[in-house]
Amino acid sequence: MAIRNVGVVGCGLMGSGIAQVSAQAGFPTVVREVSKPLLEKGLGAIRKFLQGGVDKGKLAAADMEKTLANLKGTTELQDLAGCDLVIEAVSESLELKRELFGALDGICRPETIVASNTSSLSITELSTFTKRAERVIGLHFFNPVPLMKLVEVVRTLRSDPAAVQEASEWCRAIGKTVVTVGDSTGFVVNRLLVPYMLDAIRVFEQGLASRDDIDNAMKLGCGYPMGPLLLGDYVGLDTTHSIAQIMFEEFREPRFASPPLLKRMVLAGRHGRKTGRGFYDWSTNPPS
Ligand code: 3HC
Repeated sequence: MAIRNVGVVGCGLMGSGIAQVSAQAGFPTVVREVSKPLLEKGLGAIRKFLQGGVDKGKLAAADMEKTLANLKGTTELQDLAGCDLVIEAVSESLELKRELFGALDGICRPETIVASNTSSLSITELSTFTKRAERVIGLHFFNPVPLMKLVEVVRTLRSDPAAVQEASEWCRAIGKTVVTVGDSTGFVVNRLLVPYMLDAIRVFEQGLASRDDIDNAMKLGCGYPMGPLLLGDYVGLDTTHSIAQIMFEEFREPRFASPPLLKRMVLAGRHGRKTGRGFYDWSTNPPS
């Protein structure tokens, strides 16, 4: 089955990006949020990004209009009934996802692929919340979704290879490069990236180097686009902490343990870019 109509659940940082790239590639896309204000916030972020593309000369104004015409916002899950692929991008709560997957299972056609953008929860466990385990996969996108070229396509022991292939073809159709990975907490990217980010926080915590020296070391010494502390702010320190906890729970290895400083920054509301303060002060642009 070729994927034509796409649904996205959640119009936050990741969901809005996924809905945008889907609509931009010409797929009629419905994105669902729980409330009108949250939906409007997400759609506003999409409009802002597209307008930024037009202003930078990266996108024709007509293509922005076409993208917006392909995009429909809703607060009703029922509006996803006609979708061939539904991608869930809600908060990383197993209970929330249990409820959502159960509801989607009742609403969507049996052949619909139900995918999760989770970065750390088990796709196999999510598949048990449905009666279509063979059509449940992971599609792990990266932030910022419109600019990052990768999608990790996650197969479980029960995933139908045809579903994996159909979803992979759709990812390529929206301009992404696919890597196929098994269902293991953190998949490939976060398995490698999260301990690196946690170690950078430990280096800072131990006073080995300043924030800027740590970030410059990795930027200029390794050619990374941004340093690990800035990346933590960018991804969200609360998100990083929560992924670390799930990974530590799974592997019981010290390298996945959240450093005490990270825990305290999260408790203090210093979540990075989203709250205006993390390792950097995001009220200034660029952050300092
Ligand atoms: N529309 C179209 N194109 C745009 C655009 C827009 N609104 N805004 C920017 N661009 C283009 C720019 O024109 C530029 O294109 P070019 O390379 O052809 O010149 C390119 O996108 C980069 O944009 P900028 O020059 O404005 O920004 P930077 O060069 O500073 O790059 C970045 C920004 C892409 C975020 C880069 O710093 C980066 O790659 N950082 C690392 C991000 C990362 O590691 N993400 C993964 C996080 S982990 C994750 O998501 C997993 C989760 O589970 C935790």
